[in-house]
Amino acid sequence: MKASSTPQREPILAIQAMSKVYQMGETAVHALQNVSLSISEGDYVAIIGASGSGKSTLMNMIGLLDRPTTGSYKIRGKETSTLSKNEQADMRNQEIGFIFQRFNLLARAQAVRQVEVPLFYAGVTGKPARQRATEALTRVGLGNRTDHRPDQLSGGQQQRVAIARALVNNPSILLADEPTGALDTKTTAEILNLFDDLHQQGLTLVVVTHEMNVASRAQRVITLMDGQIISDVLNNEDGMARSIEKLEGRTTAIPLTGYQSGYQPQNHNNPQLEVAL
Ligand SMILES: Nc1ncnc2c1ncn2[C@@H]1O[C@H](COP(=O)(O)OP(=O)(O)OP(=O)(O)O)[C@@H](O)[C@H]1O
Ligand SMILES: [Mg+2]
Repeated sequence: MKASSTPQREPILAIQAMSKVYQMGETAVHALQNVSLSISEGDYVAIIGASGSGKSTLMNMIGLLDRPTTGSYKIRGKETSTLSKNEQADMRNQEIGFIFQRFNLLARAQAVRQVEVPLFYAGVTGKPARQRATEALTRVGLGNRTDHRPDQLSGGQQQRVAIARALVNNPSILLADEPTGALDTKTTAEILNLFDDLHQQGLTLVVVTHEMNVASRAQRVITLMDGQIISDVLNNEDGMARSIEKLEGRTTAIPLTGYQSGYQPQNHNNPQLEVAL
């Protein structure tokens, strides 16, 4: 849970030669091709790339929502690809919290109820669940909104409920797929400040985004194109310039236009979505 203070940190996530092929009738979609990457505990990583480049697919793999076609994926040194479904679900429940672009809140439930959902799956119910859900809401600054339903909350507050829900099982890894895609500039800034706080508290953050201002808050920026990592740089001026250069150099179809506001990512049905909550 805590970021290690030693300079050489062990990878919390290690992906080796991972590929994912979706078979669509006769056509094979190579959504990830031979991807390798390690993320250290306490890192803050942004994943960028044009629509269809494989960002959500990679996040689904990292989050154990889907299995790769080939390749290895270790969490804290433990190979996950050979785990049973139940073992994967346990590991997900203990280690990983998810945040989505559209919040994925239950339409009619109070904030505290929303946050209790993953606790229920972890076997925590009743008063202890209520207390932990309230604590998680307080952690994201919503201690005074526990009884509000989504339609009684602003967009940023709804996303914070979703973040509280992701945090309530005390995960060490927080995964966010376009977490600010549905938010205005001011609300985006609030959520990014909250991410900074969580990072300070030792969480490992992986954030998929189309917005360069969101990516630039991370320590490291990974760029995907056509299912492959084309750049993996530290977030300094040099690094960002290089990843933009790579994006512009490798495609004429979607250079930086994909980052303009108003962009709507593809919305694939994810039948496993509920298990992430
Ligand atoms: N369940 C699926 N079945 C078939 N093909 C899929 C499936 N999910 C994704 N794909 C395909 O895999 C590729 C990568 O999709 P993915 O959703 O990972 O892209 P993305 O980078 O997240 O895009 P966006 O920015 O639009 O969200 C795309 O070509 C997509 O059409
Ligand atoms: Mg996506």
